[in-house]
Amino acid sequence: MIFAELGQVKNSKYKNAQRARKSFWIRRLMRNVKMKFSRHDYLNLDIVVSTIGYGMRKISQAIYGRMDNAVYSALGNQWWQPDSAFYQMKVFLNPVRVGYVKRKLIEETRIDPKTTAALDVGCGGGFLTEEIARMGFDTTGVDPSARSIEAAAAHARENGLNVRYRTGVGESLPFEDRSFGVVFCCDVLEHVRDLPKVVSEISRVLKPGGVFCYDTLNRTWVSRLAAIKISQDWKPWAYMPPNLHVWEMFIKPGEMKSLLRQNGLEWKDHRGLKPDIPIPRLLGYLRKRARGEWTYAELAAKVRMVESRVTAVMYMGLAVKE
Ligand SMILES: C[S@@+](CC[C@H](N)C(=O)[O-])C[C@H]1O[C@@H](n2cnc3c(N)ncnc32)[C@H](O)[C@@H]1O
Repeated sequence: MIFAELGQVKNSKYKNAQRARKSFWIRRLMRNVKMKFSRHDYLNLDIVVSTIGYGMRKISQAIYGRMDNAVYSALGNQWWQPDSAFYQMKVFLNPVRVGYVKRKLIEETRIDPKTTAALDVGCGGGFLTEEIARMGFDTTGVDPSARSIEAAAAHARENGLNVRYRTGVGESLPFEDRSFGVVFCCDVLEHVRDLPKVVSEISRVLKPGGVFCYDTLNRTWVSRLAAIKISQDWKPWAYMPPNLHVWEMFIKPGEMKSLLRQNGLEWKDHRGLKPDIPIPRLLGYLRKRARGEWTYAELAAKVRMVESRVTAVMYMGLAVKE
């Protein structure tokens, strides 16, 4: 009798332990799921539909409304001030972009800049646009922000660069069909209101055989941690304004490929981007900047983005107009 009771106690202890283990794993799984899909996502079909592979659609106003694109107009000529948050983008991103463009576009695809018209969509203050002009392309930049366009045009003039600048949105490019041999759209696709329309406009203004060159952010839990939490939200490290990026607007490489295909653009290449220093060291540097021990310029002097096989956070790519 006593043994039977002891056996029951043991059995129920075992069952309780099993239940606790099970609920621990369920709680852990739910935490991960929550990290991938915020409450907002459950309510929004766009992200669910694109995640399960039905292709990209225009993002809902509820998600787009969370993004602060007004920050670019507020910048004005701060784009080119070396000790500003945005100037870092030029310092740590431009070298890898320019290297990729020179290798993939000029050396491998054999595009001759001297005889090619290039458009930079979402050119902002002209960081990449000026590099495109320096490579020898006949260059035009377009951006919705009139103040950014003024700052970009003034900077190009001061530096003796011949660039045409226009205000306009990627969803309705103010150019004739088949006007350009190359279209760049870098660090912009994850900011636009209607991504499919922007890609279709880019395809429209490209000549047959012309090249579309882009970089953007991937929508993974790693990019959520790196580009949203650490870069914008978590005060001990944040170095960019809040709501500069909205994770739900990031684009998976597979989604990019299907958008390109739908718009008569043959996908050629994707290449990941990563910092050239180990992540713990980068966090230490960001901490110094956040504490005010380092300026933005000091931070930017220590880090560069480099090419990588890993596309989990950021990637560049190329496609050719059929
Ligand atoms: C992060 S900045 C990138 C600027 C520039 N491409 C560079 O890499 O230096 C994003 C830019 O996208 C522009 N942008 C936002 N919505 C856009 C749209 N619908 N069409 C074109 N550009 C847009 C913003 O005005 C801003 O200049």
